[in-house]
Amino acid sequence: MKLPEHGANPHRLYEQAGHKQPSGVIDFSENVHPFGPPIFLKEQWGDFYNLLSSYPDPLAEPFRSAAAEYHGVGKERVAAGNGAAEIFTWLAKRYRGKRVTLVEPAFSEYRSTLESGKIHILEIDLKPEHAWQLKLEDVKKQVGNCDALYVCNPHNPTGRLLDLAELEEIATLCKGKCELVIDEAFIDFIGEHASFIPLLKRYPHVIIVRSMTKMYALAGLRLGYVIAESSIIRELTRSAAHWNVNGLAAAAGARCFSEEAYRERIIRAAASERAKMEAYLEMMGCPFVPSAANFLCFQLPNPERSEPFFHAMLEAGIVLRHTYSFKGMDGEWFRIGMKSASAMERLRKEMQQWFQDN
Ligand SMILES: Cc1ncc(COP(=O)(O)O)c(C=O)c1O
Repeated sequence: MKLPEHGANPHRLYEQAGHKQPSGVIDFSENVHPFGPPIFLKEQWGDFYNLLSSYPDPLAEPFRSAAAEYHGVGKERVAAGNGAAEIFTWLAKRYRGKRVTLVEPAFSEYRSTLESGKIHILEIDLKPEHAWQLKLEDVKKQVGNCDALYVCNPHNPTGRLLDLAELEEIATLCKGKCELVIDEAFIDFIGEHASFIPLLKRYPHVIIVRSMTKMYALAGLRLGYVIAESSIIRELTRSAAHWNVNGLAAAAGARCFSEEAYRERIIRAAASERAKMEAYLEMMGCPFVPSAANFLCFQLPNPERSEPFFHAMLEAGIVLRHTYSFKGMDGEWFRIGMKSASAMERLRKEMQQWFQDN
């Protein structure tokens, strides 16, 4: 049985897992929060409608300038992509024929974009016995062997956060040896104080990838960006399609940066649901990884029961993110995105029922 490599699109999972999809499915497999995009998008939909008939700005304005201003960097150091996913395709071109180290388990698009570019992939394997923490000695061993190291912070799938001191140590280890690509797709769930962007000036070999998908619930709009030295930005975007970012995304994304109250509300809600879920998992004796993001990885007290549990949850309309495609987790862990309080309650209720029946 081959299950989908990504979360979301639950109908595909039901199809591939051989189950009939029940009504009232709750999808915990995707990490987009449940509160919807900022309300201005609905209120000003008419203004956005008017953008559709014109070609967008080829440099994704006004988004590019708004992102630059939000982060306090020059706009020549920013480029916008059709989601962070597009930026990983640019990076794969940058490293074509070279060597890139991935920290596994990892977001699957790193590998799939790199594999299409004849890139030799090296690995640092995170270990459950080290609580999935990235060890500096492993980084040290690898930096001399590769042209780039990809680090996801906070890490998907575990949600583990490297603090700035740890990241600076990693950036220092990479200096003069390889570039460091930090994927900050989920950093908004902690806040800008956790971002490496303000430190970039001291580390010109560091490239930051960001996504508007996660914090602003804009997965369908497709918008992400990269911040790096201007020479790197020029090289990365050389092969990008003209008008790669649509006009709606550029206009809406630019407005999102001023949504401070929205961001605070989402951060608070995710933290509160995470705390309730962690307390439940603790009570049930389920190991979990302490997460800083809006998702959480856990195991059953008896991980050998993972497969029947996953399928029983599917039948109950609960879609968990399986981890067969995450190296080292091998289906014996589950990742859940934090959803509304009532959805999380339903998850705990279904899990409780399963624990009672099994
Ligand atoms: C770690 C990580 N980076 C990047 C992305 C891609 O984000 P986007 O929707 O902006 O393409 C994802 C999407 O799931 C992700 O999990």
